[in-house]
Amino acid sequence: MIRPIVAYGDPILKKKAIEINIDEPGELKSLIKDLWDTMYNAKGVGIAAPQIGISKSIFVADFSFFKDEDNFFENELINMKQVFINPKIIKEKGDNYTYPEGCLSIPNISENVTRKSCLKIKFLDENLSSHEMECSGIIARVIQHEYDHLKGILFTDKLKYKERKKLREELNLISIGEVDVKYKMSFLKN
Ligand code: CO
Repeated sequence: MIRPIVAYGDPILKKKAIEINIDEPGELKSLIKDLWDTMYNAKGVGIAAPQIGISKSIFVADFSFFKDEDNFFENELINMKQVFINPKIIKEKGDNYTYPEGCLSIPNISENVTRKSCLKIKFLDENLSSHEMECSGIIARVIQHEYDHLKGILFTDKLKYKERKKLREELNLISIGEVDVKYKMSFLKN
């Protein structure tokens, strides 16, 4: 089911997501389906559960979009379409590199964000099998961005004060729904 995407300004995006209890996974299957449906409908490459209003530690990503990138096949991808349940980044290494990021919760804004170029992540897939994966470049970037959502961090939090200040008005407008967007969103009402 396509769910409304929570817009910038909603406190759920600032909350740390709770781990999924794998002994009682509950509605995990339908949650995963909703994440995919919502992500594809919004033409995103990744989405985290807090973005559909569920503060649980899970995100999904479809890496096939990047398969023409230079170092794509250096990544230890398990699947092109990957579900990450209770993920843990074990290490980040490599040079800092800067690349423009966007976010389905912050439509029409794209800003340069600096992150480490490689990482190693541990997670469970949709069958609750455990995996470890090493990746770099754009794949690592997508994972770092979605992982941050589970920590209550948005890419705008990583910008320098000056850059954030420039965006303040635009972000305020997004939070109250004054934004031109093609997919369904939920906005903070006041
Ligand atoms: Co995002």
